[in-house]
Formats: sequence, C-alpha cells, structure tokens
Amino acid sequence: MASTNHFQCMFLALLFVLGVFSSQASSRLFNEQTMLERHEQWMAHHGRVYKDVKEKDIRFQIFKENVERINAFNEGVDRGYKLSVNQFADQTNEEFRASRNGYKRQSIEVMSVSKPTTFRYANVTVVPKVLNRGIGYLKKGAVTPVKDQGQCGCCWAFSAVASMEGINQLKTGKLVSLSEQEIVDCDVKAVDQGCYGGLIDSAFQFIKQNKGLTTEANYPYVGQDGTCNSKKAATPAAKITGYEDVPSNKEKALLQAVANHPVSVAIEASGYNFQFYSSGIFTGTCGTNLDHGVTAVGYGAIANGTKYWLIKNSWGSGWGENGYIRMKKDIAAKEGLCGIAMKASYPIV
Ligand SMILES: *[C@@H]1O[C@H](CO)[C@@H](O)[C@H](O)[C@H]1NC(C)=O
Ligand SMILES: *[C@@H]1O[C@H](CO)[C@@H](O)[C@H](O)[C@H]1NC(C)=O
Repeated sequence: MASTNHFQCMFLALLFVLGVFSSQASSRLFNEQTMLERHEQWMAHHGRVYKDVKEKDIRFQIFKENVERINAFNEGVDRGYKLSVNQFADQTNEEFRASRNGYKRQSIEVMSVSKPTTFRYANVTVVPKVLNRGIGYLKKGAVTPVKDQGQCGCCWAFSAVASMEGINQLKTGKLVSLSEQEIVDCDVKAVDQGCYGGLIDSAFQFIKQNKGLTTEANYPYVGQDGTCNSKKAATPAAKITGYEDVPSNKEKALLQAVANHPVSVAIEASGYNFQFYSSGIFTGTCGTNLDHGVTAVGYGAIANGTKYWLIKNSWGSGWGENGYIRMKKDIAAKEGLCGIAMKASYPIV
C-alpha cells in the first residue's frame, strides 16, 4: 500500500513536472511569437528593411534583448525616468554609440583648441526660477524644431548650431534654422572630421572665420560627409564674433549662462539608458567620458523639488520627450550628471 502510494505520488509529481515544462515551453514559444510580431510591427512603423533573412535574424535577436532590457528597467525600481522601445531598438549600444556620438575630447582638445576665454556672466546673480526655451516654445522661442543627425557622428555641429540659432534669435528676434551640413563639409581642420567627430569650440572658430553660416534651407542636411559647396557657404544668414567657455565643473556657472541663452554642452551619452530614454528626469547611469554634444535650453524643477536641465538633442523628435531630455541638475559631483558642467560653451555675437 505504502509503496503504491509512493508510486502514485512520484507519478503525479512527474506529471506535474512535465506539465510545468510543457507550459514553460509553450509560453516561451508564445513569447517568441509575440516578439517576432512586435519586431515586424516595429519595422513597419520605422520603415526598417533588412537586406536578407540573416540580417533580419541578427537584428531580431538584438531587438528582443533590448525589449527585455527596457521592460525589466521600467518594471524595476523607480529611477524617476522611463525607457521606451524607440527607433534605435535594433541596435546594440556599441553600434549606436559608434554611429551617433561624435564628440572628441581630452588630448586633441587640450592641444588644439582650449584657450582661456572670459566669462561674461560671472557676476549674474538674478536668474529666472524656471526657464523653458524648448518644449512648447518651438514657434515663438529661440529654439528650432528638433533635428535628426541620422547615422553620422556630427553631434558637435548640431550642438554648435543650436546655441548659435538661439543667440541669433535673441539678438535679432528672428528664428532662423542654420546649416549643420556647411560645418560638416567645409570645416575641415584636423580636429573636425564631419561624421567622424569634432569639437564644438572648433566649430565656433570655423563659423567665425567663415563669416557666418547659411540657412538649413540653402544648405540642407544630408547626413554624410561631402565636399564644401563654397558658393552656398558664401551666403551667410547669421554671424558670430567668437565664443566663450563656461568655467568648468560649476553647475552654477552653467546656470548663469543658460539663463541668458542656449548653451552647447558635452556629455557622456553612452549607456543603454540614454539610448532608450523616454521620459522623466534622467539620473544616469553615465560617467564623465564626454562623447556627445547637445544643447542646454532651459531648466526647472518637478513638484517634489528635483531640479533638471532641459536639453535639446539631435536624434529626432521620436527620442525622449519630443527629442528633449531632462537631466538631473545640481548633483553632488562637481562635473554634473554625465559631465554636463565640464565643457560648456556658447558663441558671442
Ligand atoms: C521626486 O520624484 C521623482 C519622480 O517621481 C523620484 O524619482 C524622486 O526620487 C523624487 N525625489 C525626492 C527627493 O523625493
Ligand atoms: C565681476 O565683478 C568683479 C568685481 O566687481 C569685476 O572685477 C569683474 O570684472 C566682473 N566680471 C564680469 C565678467 O563682469
């Protein structure tokens, strides 16, 4: 009797185990199927076409890992921001960084560009509590609609142009979209290499020497390196007389400048969390290995007092908050979040 019971018990346990296995297997199959459908929908939505089945399979695996990573983040501990399955979901972070970030730093910069400049806002004491020159102010403000650099590492040109557009608008009252492609094609100093990276201050030097920049409409962005169209480059729509650097590692100094106009900033934008940032106050993770140029166009605080910088990016309006990111402001480290206070500058007119 006892042994029969024992046998029955084993048998039932075996059935149970088999049942669990098969339901796990079928739910895995189901998940795979759902994920395949999700990838197809994502491809259709973003107009993505792969050259063959092999490429599609590779991209699907990356897509799947990214979706799982994004879901795990969003369902995990609340970090104050969310991620989303955006247009970059079929790229690994390495691929993404290689094709997007193009800010060069350190040695070359120290050797060829950095020289002390004055800081005209050093004595600014009164600044607006909240400032938004970006989201919701696109039509009347100092900031043009979010642009998309595509798969070209010329963030540095977009960053320089965005702060120049802002300063030009604040001076003339006219918001004119200016040409990044002119910088990519015509600024051919050793440190500035179009889609292969460059420096923001060096772009300002070029713009000054070139006697200004023409409009986006006249010299449109094509997202790859080309030869300089000197005829178009000779019809400037806005000029600058030079540039100034914000004193490094002082978010307070950055505030003094941003209170006056948009400011070009360099950040480390290297992680998955940045690639898939969707909304909220970004709090990392990132270091201070500056690799991306963006533009600070405002600042503010949410209801519970958490302060942020309002940053215009150049990855299209499908990324982040309509193309913007709010990054935590006034953190303990003097470099600021992702090094935002390390290498900020702006043109002067
Ligand atoms: C403020 O709110 C954000 C978003 O909900 C949250 O992540 C953060 O921890 C809060 N900060 C404080 C100091 O309560
Ligand atoms: C700031 O104030 C100090 C003291 O009055 C003055 O020496 C300095 O030139 C001022 N700096 C600027 C940038 O205006």
